[in-house]
Amino acid sequence: MNLPDYVEARKRTKQKLAIEHYSNDVKEIGKGKTYHIKTYGCQMNEHDSENIKAMLEELGFTNNDDYLTSDLVLLNTCSIRENAHNKAFGMLGRLKHLKEKNPNLIVGLCGCMAQEEGVVKEILEKYKWVNFVFGTHNLHRLPYILKEAVEKNTSEIEVFSKEGNIVEGIPVKRDSKYKAFVNIIYGCDKFCTYCIVPFTRGGQRSRLKEDIIKEVEGLVKDGYMEVTLLGQNVNAYGKDLDLGYGMEELLEEVSKTNIPRIRFVTSHPWDFTDKMIEVISKYKNIMPAIHLPVQSGSNRILKLMGRRYTKEDYLTLFNKMKERIPNVSISTDIIVGFPGETEEDFLETLDLVNKCKFDNAFTFIYSKRENTAAARLQDDTSEEEKEERLYRLNEVVNKYFLENNQKLVGKVVPVLVEGVSDKKNELYGYTDTNKLINFMGAESYIGKIVNVKITSAKTWSLDGELDEG
Ligand code: SAH
Ligand code: SF4
Ligand code: F3S
Repeated sequence: MNLPDYVEARKRTKQKLAIEHYSNDVKEIGKGKTYHIKTYGCQMNEHDSENIKAMLEELGFTNNDDYLTSDLVLLNTCSIRENAHNKAFGMLGRLKHLKEKNPNLIVGLCGCMAQEEGVVKEILEKYKWVNFVFGTHNLHRLPYILKEAVEKNTSEIEVFSKEGNIVEGIPVKRDSKYKAFVNIIYGCDKFCTYCIVPFTRGGQRSRLKEDIIKEVEGLVKDGYMEVTLLGQNVNAYGKDLDLGYGMEELLEEVSKTNIPRIRFVTSHPWDFTDKMIEVISKYKNIMPAIHLPVQSGSNRILKLMGRRYTKEDYLTLFNKMKERIPNVSISTDIIVGFPGETEEDFLETLDLVNKCKFDNAFTFIYSKRENTAAARLQDDTSEEEKEERLYRLNEVVNKYFLENNQKLVGKVVPVLVEGVSDKKNELYGYTDTNKLINFMGAESYIGKIVNVKITSAKTWSLDGELDEG
């Protein structure tokens, strides 16, 4: 049994990491059995689930969309806010009933929550029937952990608190045939005071550029139209490798693979260089859509959050992007109700939003996370007041989403068509600036980039018609 340990998880060392290659000699333990994965959280988790699916299928398991009739149910969890936690524990509650009826059901939990000391303690005390738990640092060990759990029918807990080497060659079963996630950097060293990610995902580790380019070239060969380069802080790419090769160079080289569309998430304002802005504006296949979380507009709160920039720094960077990247859309993340946030602080956030008029924004109420620095700060604001701030903030951000979308009416934009929308008999896809658009057209357009003329705008999406001219 390997349990998570926060003292270890916090440590950052300069030691050079080796590259390991995935290998698996466990075979056929899933033959004739089905699996179901529930994925919570960010794109990083979604992509990990794509790896998990491929590893399970290598073992003979087949996918089952219905968890109620699956032989194996795995929860790939997220720790970022309390509601993500509650969702996973709610699901565990449902699985308990299933397991009582079917003792052969195998239940596993992985992802960020598995890295939390408190969560694993709770599982050991109250959810003893869970068959296996593994963390974000030992994804590649899944076949071995599962084998133990299946053969011994005991609880296997294997969570490495410290990140290990980078493991290349883990198989992947991508959810889309057109859009792909590619990890470029794991972990995070920023330690923003509210955030649990540096503990659940470990220290910042960049993949070698050769491995990234090889993966993207493979995607081009397989007909993929879009790649999203993933990391908690993609602009820090390469800093830990000391090769004088950073995000600027990587973007340029990925661009030269001629994959039609390149996106990247998430960018921290701290590491965003002028050279990056130049590269983004120069290469046509790097999409003009940047996710640039600001978190707060108050300098006092930004300092308490440990974000390393001021409101003025953010605005300078934001304006530079708007000036230099043609047609750029910028989205953000904002937290309200950080410990000690006053009405004045909140008004600074509203002021920043009024200046930036974001194209999209994800807004959250601060959630206290185990073991983070902010968890020790005094928090006098009532839940009611925080909810009221969130409501006021959403009113303002939504107004700008609609205004920005309305400005696009009449324009012709490139759209990567992803499928048929659920509600109507229409196609849907995303514009270069990452806006959802619906329009009528033949299914043969799915997987292609087509020109669409925007005919009307809503807050969260656009409507359009094919422009074949
Ligand atoms: N690495 C990215 C964000 C990762 S988490 C970055 O630094 O920008 C995604 C978003 O969740 C964050 O941008 C933040 O707005 C929000 N978030 C993170 N921790 C939170 C917490 N404790 N409470 C509320 N929101 C949080
Ligand atoms: Fe969390 Fe900050 Fe790292 Fe983003 S940069 S993952 S918010 S610690
Ligand atoms: Fe959640 Fe972990 Fe992503 S905490 S947001 S799944 S890195």
